[in-house]
Amino acid sequence: MSTTEHVDLAPATDGGALRTAYSCFPSGVVAVCSQIDFAPVGMAASSFATVSLDPPLVSLCVQHTSRTWPKLRNAPRIGLSVFAASQDLLCRQLAGPAAHRFDGITPQVSDNGALFIPGSAAILSCSLYDEVSAGDHDLVLLAIEALSADPGIEPLVFHASTFRALEARA
Ligand SMILES: Cc1cc2nc3c(=O)[nH]c(=O)nc-3n(C[C@H](O)[C@H](O)[C@H](O)COP(=O)(O)O)c2cc1C
Repeated sequence: MSTTEHVDLAPATDGGALRTAYSCFPSGVVAVCSQIDFAPVGMAASSFATVSLDPPLVSLCVQHTSRTWPKLRNAPRIGLSVFAASQDLLCRQLAGPAAHRFDGITPQVSDNGALFIPGSAAILSCSLYDEVSAGDHDLVLLAIEALSADPGIEPLVFHASTFRALEARA
């Protein structure tokens, strides 16, 4: 018989413990942006996940309190830009006051208004595929229509509330 050791767990109702646990999972960060009425609109999101190859789908989780997502969700195309390791300040800017999110940036735009951050590791032009309300967030599924990627560009990593970069193992 194998031996076991008892472990005490915090209840999931402990919001601090839950946030800390979520922060232990490292993730990349994407900019979610569209050109709407000739103006750039966007936000940063670390909840990006790949979902399906056929059809090509990715997901995001967006807080119900977001004032940017209700604008983006009606755009014909939504651009996702995978932030590069060098773009940590830009990432913070994309999460800051909406009026200054694109200060100092000349965004790239493709067909139907998908907007991208220059120098990103990958850019995906998407359309809204489905949305499911999930607790205090919306789980958003996006269908990829077109893309460009450069795995040679080091990605930004968000872990334990801090921006980091990857280190290759020999
Ligand atoms: C590193 C980082 C990751 C974030 N990830 C998400 C996310 O996955 N989902 C989300 O709704 N907001 C996320 N945010 C917050 C948004 O970028 C933004 O600040 C928030 O939506 C409030 O702005 P808004 O009202 O214009 O939407 C993140 C912020 C930072 C700095």
